[in-house]
Amino acid sequence: MKLRLPYSFYNLTSYIGAVIALIALFMFIFLYALTSISGFDKAYIGIVIFIVIPFFLILGLLLIPIGMLNKIRRQKKSGEIESRELPVLNLNLPNHRNATIIFAIGTTLFLFLSAFGSYHAYHFTESNRFCGTLCHKLMVPEYTSYQLSPHARVKCAECHIGSGANWYVKSKLSGLYQVYATVANVYPQPIPTPIKNLRPARETCEECHWPQKVYGKQQRKEFYYLPDEDNTRWEIDLLMNTGGGNPALGQSSGIHWHVNSDIDIEYITTDEKRSSIPRVIQTNKVTGEQIIYNNIEEPLEEGDGEDSFRDQRVMDCIDCHNRPGHIYNDPSKFINISLASGLIDDTLPLIKQVAVEACLQEYETTEQAFGEIKNYIQSFYQENYPEITESKNREIEKSIAGVQQAFSQNIFPEMKVRWENYPDYIGHMTSQGCFRCHDGKHAGDNGEMISHECVVCHLITSQGTKESAQHASMQESLDFQHPIDIGEEWREIGCYECHSTPPL
Ligand code: HEC
Ligand code: HEC
Ligand code: HEC
Ligand code: HEC
Ligand code: HEC
Ligand code: HEC
Repeated sequence: MKLRLPYSFYNLTSYIGAVIALIALFMFIFLYALTSISGFDKAYIGIVIFIVIPFFLILGLLLIPIGMLNKIRRQKKSGEIESRELPVLNLNLPNHRNATIIFAIGTTLFLFLSAFGSYHAYHFTESNRFCGTLCHKLMVPEYTSYQLSPHARVKCAECHIGSGANWYVKSKLSGLYQVYATVANVYPQPIPTPIKNLRPARETCEECHWPQKVYGKQQRKEFYYLPDEDNTRWEIDLLMNTGGGNPALGQSSGIHWHVNSDIDIEYITTDEKRSSIPRVIQTNKVTGEQIIYNNIEEPLEEGDGEDSFRDQRVMDCIDCHNRPGHIYNDPSKFINISLASGLIDDTLPLIKQVAVEACLQEYETTEQAFGEIKNYIQSFYQENYPEITESKNREIEKSIAGVQQAFSQNIFPEMKVRWENYPDYIGHMTSQGCFRCHDGKHAGDNGEMISHECVVCHLITSQGTKESAQHASMQESLDFQHPIDIGEEWREIGCYECHSTPPL
């Protein structure tokens, strides 16, 4: 029996539409079944199944009525059929009946598939695979550092998008431009930071870390290897005055005081990276009391930073924790970590210094870096310690691999990602961090300075090498001792001024 359809269906456009829709439907079912059964799932196939194929399915389905309407219009014009306002549906005619049945079944199937497809498309575009691997080269640094961060199990979308349809749509719209930028190869390198339109931290971070949760005090152990022949290990124990707490219970002090719900700290920045802060405005939201702090050495001038960079922000989590998911350490720090974990052998003389020197060079590609790091370290030992090249060859080889690995987790030459381009604002060693405001130069209109004493933020509870360690008595802080004798200079100039690139 021949399936009879309304006369208007028989036209080229509708035929093409039907064929496209059928092929797309078949491909969708086939590929979906294939990936479900074989467990083969890669970001690219997800794009094909949930974005490309549905696009063609809808296109095909649209072509069918377009072709039909076109044909009817042409026939009306030429007088082949009489013109009526609306078409007449007569279920007694087999071709009308068939069309109605096909339309009803087709629509049901289509609605079902779109619900199913968009559910999967939603989950797919929120997945780490989609965010982290699709633009391959582009996201390698962020994805690598993310996997090593304390948030390795938190989805990209939970910080970058948050919950709710509103931000989902916003982020996908800006994502469209990014897809274009990637395909057209016009994306900036390095990817600019900070992200201008990141969803306010209060709606993302606070989903997991609500501020009423008391942070209290926190013990931190920092360790370093000095650039001497023995790679002497130096340790500093800090008791961080993390603070925070619940204002309703009267607990509010310490570092998390800035995000207390009764307080607003606003600041004006005049550069892209938010590193220069000439003015800070502190408002007590309960009493309305305001204190304005100005940088006395570099006050805010009319027209500073012009409109593009000048920005006024209310401080939130991101102003200190700006690298919770993507930490790019400087060579001194990442070599310290690898020495401590044994990936680099600390019995090799001067290995700390040599490794840092090798990583400080600017390279074009990771591959090139690997080669030159190897050369640099090998030739150093050949020239300066020929006997060790013989006796400790295995240790040298292992350490080279350790340096290369640490390098590849922190520096990404292809994307120009280095610690200098992505300053971490949590402390004050490699960037100004807290010292953007707490630098002893911000004077309030109440006559007080924004505090600068070391003990406001942390107590030094012990410091030194194993042999020379000093310990503080309870609730007291040691006076900081710089591991290498630089006199009193650290009191006068910020640590970051020497340490933003490891001083050697
Ligand atoms: C713990 C929260 C968190 C998670 C999880 C997270 N990010 Fe981020 N990401 C941030 C923050 C915060 C910034 C910096 C924002 C700023 O300074 O304005 C950022 C910045 C970025 C940037 C801009 C470049 C840069 O390094 O500053 C990219 C790209 C990025 N993230 C991609 C990703 C991808 C891909 C994933 C998942 C694989 C991910 N992020 C997971 C919080 C997160
Ligand atoms: C989906 C939940 C989730 C979100 C959203 C989230 N975090 Fe976390 N965060 C965690 C978990 C889990 C840990 C690990 C807890 C631990 O180690 O005890 C963590 C740890 C941390 C730590 C301690 C890190 C360390 O070195 O121990 C900081 C700081 C932090 N998060 C800040 C943030 C900031 C800032 C944001 C927003 C950009 C954020 N988090 C968003 C779940 C989350
Ligand atoms: C003024 C800067 C600053 C702001 C603003 C800030 N933090 Fe912190 N936060 C710190 C410092 C400093 C620490 C101490 C730990 C460290 O040195 O890494 C810390 C520690 C933490 C920890 C780990 C605490 C623990 O006990 O393990 C979490 C979680 C955290 N912050 C979340 C947040 C969230 C969420 C916000 C926003 C509501 C926020 N912070 C705002 C500076 C800040
Ligand atoms: C945008 C400017 C700004 C930045 C950046 C900033 N602070 Fe503050 N902070 C202030 C102001 C203003 C005060 C109130 C004046 C004071 O007590 O010194 C303050 C007060 C404090 C206090 C005393 C709170 C109390 O108990 O009364 C601590 C501790 C503190 N900050 C730690 C930090 C740490 C740690 C960082 C970096 C992770 C940091 N701040 C970054 C502006 C800032
Ligand atoms: C405004 C708060 C603040 C002040 C003032 C401050 N610090 Fe810190 N300091 C921090 C924070 C926050 C960290 C932790 C950084 C991190 O989490 O990595 C830190 C880390 C350190 C570290 C460990 C550095 C590292 O990353 O290995 C040393 C050492 C230190 N501070 C010494 C000092 C000395 C000495 C002073 C006084 C001249 C001082 N600090 C003043 C907030 C402060
Ligand atoms: C005048 C420059 C200068 C200033 C200012 C300075 N340092 Fe240093 N610092 C050095 C030099 C040089 C070294 C030895 C080279 C090295 O280890 O990288 C060093 C080494 C260190 C080390 C051990 C090595 C390592 O692995 O990083 C620590 C810790 C340190 N400094 C902390 C600080 C702190 C904290 C401050 C601020 C309170 C500070 N320094 C200020 C020059 C400086």
